[in-house]
Amino acid sequence: MDVKVAPSLLAADFGNLAADIQKINSSDADYLHVDIMDGVFVPNISMGFPVLKSIKKHAQKPLDVHLMIVNPDQYIDRFCDAGASILTVHYEACTHLHRTIAHIKEKGAKGGVALNPHTPVEVLADIIQDVDLVLIMTVNPGYGGQKFIEHSYAKLARLQKIMADAGVNPIVEVDGGVNFENAPKLAAAGVTLMVAGSTVFGAPNPAEAVRKLKG
Ligand code: DX5
Ligand code: ZN
Repeated sequence: MDVKVAPSLLAADFGNLAADIQKINSSDADYLHVDIMDGVFVPNISMGFPVLKSIKKHAQKPLDVHLMIVNPDQYIDRFCDAGASILTVHYEACTHLHRTIAHIKEKGAKGGVALNPHTPVEVLADIIQDVDLVLIMTVNPGYGGQKFIEHSYAKLARLQKIMADAGVNPIVEVDGGVNFENAPKLAAAGVTLMVAGSTVFGAPNPAEAVRKLKG
């Protein structure tokens, strides 16, 4: 199974970001996942443009930027210019999602849409043909190290049906509580990109953890 892995920097040592990014550079990871939280869409604040720009300077992996912010449209140009290869916005934060995705793609990045755990995948039926990536949140966004929500498997199965009906094959990403135990099940459920924060940076050897997640 060809599953890609995006370690989430949220679980890295913020006092030694360059060293932790280097551990990912020298691993088999496919992307570096960067969580942007505004304290409004989610009850936590992570980092902004100055930190993102420094991350970009050190990272050799493409950046998978996950925006947990209200009014993402306002910042799309700046996130793309700061080096996002994938830019994912939340369905719940976008009134004109079709326009938002088109804007991200015009800027040359892959356009992704994320769904909170309570948001049914069926809301994607008329946008699935336009997105490059669907991110199913498998925890409530805002914090690392939370417990995986088991209902996510049912949601992933329904997503496969929506994709098949539309005849499209976007990247299917999951984020939150991914570990060595559920990774193979998620791959079997059609996930093609896994985010992992604590499982990678909490491991004695992050590169080895990435290899293990890939199965
Ligand atoms: C949560 C973030 C995640 C987080 C995942 O809101 O979107 O990317 O870092 O952390 P783990 O893998 O520890 O659940
Ligand atoms: Zn994330």
